[in-house]
Amino acid sequence: MSSYTLEMFIEDCREKISRGRLPADCVEMIAPSMFQLLNGDTSFLQPQHFRDDPVHYARNAIFIDENDTMSLFALVWLPGQWTPIHDHGTWGVVGVFEGTLEERNFIRTDGHRSDALEGIELVRGGVILLSAGAVTSFVPNPDHIHITGNADPQRRVVSLHLYGRTMAGFHTYDKEAGTREWIEASYNES
Ligand SMILES: [Fe+2]
Repeated sequence: MSSYTLEMFIEDCREKISRGRLPADCVEMIAPSMFQLLNGDTSFLQPQHFRDDPVHYARNAIFIDENDTMSLFALVWLPGQWTPIHDHGTWGVVGVFEGTLEERNFIRTDGHRSDALEGIELVRGGVILLSAGAVTSFVPNPDHIHITGNADPQRRVVSLHLYGRTMAGFHTYDKEAGTREWIEASYNES
């Protein structure tokens, strides 16, 4: 079993973020670290990181950097729980700890400014199934737009999400109305 710890991961991320000029640099350097963390000693995950919510997927904070450069959450998805259509406003690296996380992508086709709140046209894109141990990532500008969730009728999904800022909110989309709005993102403290 790898002795790569959460503390080592956080330190690696700090160092890589300091070297990363672009979001794509950050995710390219950090994705292997997330893979190592997930596929090693995961005893840093404590019972509070597995809290779920019968109403919607649960966000449990693991680490939030005080200088707003990164935040790490354990998300717990009960069967049938999904996000709304959303973007992130930053880069992110996601790894699956348990179960199979599904991602369904959307592509913007309206050609308006990326910060427009109306007149947004989305078409459905590809689907990705991520099983335990797998890592994916995204970068902004243009925004990465998707829904993520658990299509399994019986098993929960637990995934780790590292973002390049404190994730206090994000934009959600109404595909039919062609609109986009900011919502606050609540989470359970670690
Ligand atoms: Fe997302």
